[in-house]
Amino acid sequence: MNVLVTGAAGFIGSNFVHYVLAERPKWQITALDLLTYAGNLENIAAPLNQKQIDFVKIDITDPKAVEQLFQKTKFELVINFAAESHVDRSLYNANAFVSTNVLGTQNLLNVAKASGVNRFVQISTDEVYGSLGPTGRFLETTPLDPTSPYAASKAAADLMALAFFKTHKFDLVITRCTNNYGPYQFPEKLIPLFITNAIYDQALPLYGDGLNVRSWLYVTDHCEAILKVAESGKSGEVYNIGGSEDCEMPNIAITKTILKHLGKPETLIKPVQDRPAHDRRYAIDYSKIQRELAWQPRTPLPEGLAKTIEWYRSNEQWWRQIKSGEYLKFFEHHYGERLAQ
Ligand code: NAD
Ligand code: TYD
Repeated sequence: MNVLVTGAAGFIGSNFVHYVLAERPKWQITALDLLTYAGNLENIAAPLNQKQIDFVKIDITDPKAVEQLFQKTKFELVINFAAESHVDRSLYNANAFVSTNVLGTQNLLNVAKASGVNRFVQISTDEVYGSLGPTGRFLETTPLDPTSPYAASKAAADLMALAFFKTHKFDLVITRCTNNYGPYQFPEKLIPLFITNAIYDQALPLYGDGLNVRSWLYVTDHCEAILKVAESGKSGEVYNIGGSEDCEMPNIAITKTILKHLGKPETLIKPVQDRPAHDRRYAIDYSKIQRELAWQPRTPLPEGLAKTIEWYRSNEQWWRQIKSGEYLKFFEHHYGERLAQ
């Protein structure tokens, strides 16, 4: 089967490529990525070098380039991971988020439909539901109420995809997952940022009171769920994916766990000004995918976190460059003031 994976050089896309090559070795995978600041070919270096996959550097917002690719290869399945994915960046420049996440998705949908693709999987996020109070969980039927420009752009893409299903009967499924963690995550997101800062004895900038809660899912568990949805999900449906109850943690607790594992002092924690309109809590009800597709999270948080910390410890050459390059410029430009408080 010919499969197009977009955003394949990013965090979850690259983990998905590795997962699928192991689980479905007969699939012909084309990895597409624009290689923005977040895309890194090192994430898929082994399958590329062994010629197990093809790679194309294409912008999903470019209709001509996408059309030409679909003319060259008859894809049966498209899985769209490509996105601008960082909430903090969306606060400073929402344009790139609307361009890639909304227009890019729409462009892919147009071309995929016209080319007779059998199924389109849109990788979305639980952030489209907005924020929860201390109790409750997001269901697939929870109204969309995104807070950040990132979440709003993902919600818009979901609605566009559902419109293609309703109006054109184009076969697609949408997944909405909670926060992922694991190898190859760009060190601007909480867990890899705090691991790598702690290794360098740098401050860990904890937003607000540190009591915002996220539900953490090990990335391979997410990949397993995506494969199940791609193969057996019901057309036109949304599937929530998330960690179990004991994977829900306030940021301060996850921060202390990272420091303890690395043997670093809690004095590295630096409370900084809160993110504007910071979503308080995310928690997912994943009973639909559990009931219909027999999926549930496998990796307990302490095990997944230990594996992740060890991966960053053993792969310093992967993140050392990143931390001294573009990310540092963005971070100092926008967060220098916050950190100085
Ligand atoms: P990421 O930022 O690590 O990777 C995104 C990839 O998309 C990068 O490789 C980037 O180069 C590529 N890309 C960006 N713009 C592009 C464009 N115009 N054309 C082609 N490629 C482009 O993000 P991630 O964390 O791997 O997230 C992947 C998907 O999963 C996103 O759609 C995100 O919304 C969703 N998601 C992420 C999480 C999470 O915790 N990271 C949770 C739920 C859902
Ligand atoms: P993040 O990894 O950016 O994911 P998201 O905002 O999409 O959930 O952030 C996870 C949580 O950690 C969120 O509550 C914001 C918080 N956070 C910090 O306290 N400090 C940081 O430097 C970052 C990046 C995040």
